[in-house]
Amino acid sequence: MKSILDNRPALAKEVNKVAEVAGYLWQKGWAERNGGNITVNITEYIDDEIRQMPAISEVKPIGTTLPNLKGCYFYCKGTNMRMRDLARWPMENGSIIRILDDCAHYVIIADNPVRPTSELPSHLSVHNYLIGKGSPYKASVHTHPIELIALTHCKKYLEKDVATRMLWSMIPETKAFCPRGLGIIPYKLPSSVELADATIKELEDYDVVMWEKHGVFAVDCDVMAAFDQIDVLNKSALIYIAARNMGFEPDGMSDEQMKEMSVAFNLPK
Ligand code: 13P
Ligand code: ZN
Repeated sequence: MKSILDNRPALAKEVNKVAEVAGYLWQKGWAERNGGNITVNITEYIDDEIRQMPAISEVKPIGTTLPNLKGCYFYCKGTNMRMRDLARWPMENGSIIRILDDCAHYVIIADNPVRPTSELPSHLSVHNYLIGKGSPYKASVHTHPIELIALTHCKKYLEKDVATRMLWSMIPETKAFCPRGLGIIPYKLPSSVELADATIKELEDYDVVMWEKHGVFAVDCDVMAAFDQIDVLNKSALIYIAARNMGFEPDGMSDEQMKEMSVAFNLPK
């Protein structure tokens, strides 16, 4: 079957990175059934021929108006599609959409009319926000990492930066590679515009935010880097749990050791 990725190696590379990360999410147990979603702003890879491609879906509302997305293109995981299937067949379990000039509607243009993720309002609101502030970030990943979600079932870890400090103190790399920490968003209905609005607000201060009792949402330059930020945070949660399972509360790195890290790695906080 013909694909939009044929003879477009740069675009194919981005989509294949999504497939690779989808495989990791499944292997980690973070992607039960259709759990999680990924979108990537691929506008920089769009050529004139793609711009002329007809819609293969009806015109659909985004649910909100996003002025910075005029004429943008996104690869989106399909709603109800499995990450483990997307890992092998990214264009059968996801699709490429074009945002229309009214910035409130979109159409699917390739390869198949696979309806985008139910979390599209959050993903597109975030891309709109990132473009607005001139960010180089192009990818957003939502997934259900077991140990990080478990933390949000304890009130203490819903307080600002309590989880961040604990996670950073488990192993030095966590602060180095997730330097803005983990933002917390109180529980909101999945796929709602309220959740999208709260996500953008929290991303002003963090690259990874937690949707209480649901999952994380991360942004970065590409899908691999967004995955890495979640992975280092969840690794820290696993170390914490391992220590607790050995019967003790882990000491964590000291404030001095954390400060030393921040200076050595030139970290913001
Ligand atoms: P979708 O299958 O619509 O992407 O939803 C998965 C999910 O995790 C919702 O939060
Ligand atoms: Zn989810």
